[in-house]
Amino acid sequence: MADNRDHWASRIGFILAAAGSAVGLGNLWKFPYITWHNNGGAFVLVYLVCVLIIGLPIMMAEILIGRRTQKSPVPAFEELGNRGWGFVGLFGVLTGFVILGYYSVIAGWSILSFWQCINWSISGYVAPPEGAFGEFLADAPSQILLSLTFLVATAFIVWRGVSKGIEKAAKFLMPVLFAILAYLVIRVLFFPGIGQTFEFLFRPNFSELPTTGVLEALGHAFFTLSLGMGVMITYGSYMRKSESIVRSAGTVVFLDTIIALLACVIMYTIIFSVPGMEDSISASAIGMLFMTLPRLFYTELSGGVLIGPLFYILVAFAALTSTISLLEVIVSFFIDKLKMKRHSATVLSTCIVIFCSIYSALSLGAVGFLSEFEIFGDKPGVLSTLDHLAANWMLPLGGLFTTIFVGWFVSRKLALEQLRMVDKTGRPTFYFNLWRFFIRFIAPAAIIAVIIAVILGKDFS
Ligand code: TRP
Repeated sequence: MADNRDHWASRIGFILAAAGSAVGLGNLWKFPYITWHNNGGAFVLVYLVCVLIIGLPIMMAEILIGRRTQKSPVPAFEELGNRGWGFVGLFGVLTGFVILGYYSVIAGWSILSFWQCINWSISGYVAPPEGAFGEFLADAPSQILLSLTFLVATAFIVWRGVSKGIEKAAKFLMPVLFAILAYLVIRVLFFPGIGQTFEFLFRPNFSELPTTGVLEALGHAFFTLSLGMGVMITYGSYMRKSESIVRSAGTVVFLDTIIALLACVIMYTIIFSVPGMEDSISASAIGMLFMTLPRLFYTELSGGVLIGPLFYILVAFAALTSTISLLEVIVSFFIDKLKMKRHSATVLSTCIVIFCSIYSALSLGAVGFLSEFEIFGDKPGVLSTLDHLAANWMLPLGGLFTTIFVGWFVSRKLALEQLRMVDKTGRPTFYFNLWRFFIRFIAPAAIIAVIIAVILGKDFS
């Protein structure tokens, strides 16, 4: 065991960093979109069940692998299993490159939206001409520059290390994020659309749930909780023995879920408060977050001059703490396995990621063949292809291997030792047995169902 390994300096360090990883574009951009398209209520309920019975157990499983071995995913799988299992870790590193390669491009848009809002707040709102967003997407220099900015900011924090970089950043970014979110929620509580929002979100009507919605909810549970590629193994490996895995995992899952719901409350209430708006919501997720909302902020809301910029700081901060975790998985692999120094590992992995992200950045119209490139039907362009590849294939597969590994190859004793779910007499609690049952049977079965559904043609990206 590496005794000079950097650790979280405080108990809250892991929780904030892991919650930072989980809360991201998945919560603020993807969840409101898929919930909208799956007609709310029933979908939300199914999603909550997925998070609770599959997401939470897998998160505990990932953290326990990391905490026990104090190693990053590849050596961790090798230590608890054998060399062959190391490939699961390697697969996670590869997934990290894939996700970062497109996530950074979308994250970059939040910088632009922020900048645009600042300008509008200062000099007054000017409606962008028709098609302006499409032009922006096809503008090569803007796309490359914005994603590059985002990646450099990410690298700067990862470069500084676990306690001095990632933890410090999370301790600053997450409270700001919570504060902005709280402010926005309080604001929209007084908007006329609030009642309709609650009805939409919390009144389940199963006849309105598309059959594919169940599987979509499960796929998203992986993405939003950052499971299936080793983030929680890596972050868990910086956790001290004295901390409780169960409590930490529970807090992270709770925060992630509540923030996804609050993001819906904010966005839907604004939309429902403007008569006729709900019908004209554009069909794309990108549209809702980066096109419709800014317009509504400035044309329909009192106080939009403040809400606009704040909202995009929120998006940028949420995305930043997520990209940090993705890069850290790659960097920790280079450090642990290739014996590199953190600084050179950070530079090397950032360069590779930048290389991948350029392809995504140019695939939104700037370069013809990159924009038309298609492996999966109906998903033209490198960016959509990578998103599809990661969300539909790589994360569920990584998650499946993790549950099989922890459920069937890691001993019950070792798991109990890490989770410490024992009663006063030292016997495993009911909840420990329940966890193990979910990890061995329910979670793998559910993931296999998703994979089969994907093979049969359902898209989760
Ligand atoms: N969970 C983040 C979000 O919701 C994205 C993310 C960060 C992620 N790290 C990950 C997704 C690892 C999958 C795997 O935006």
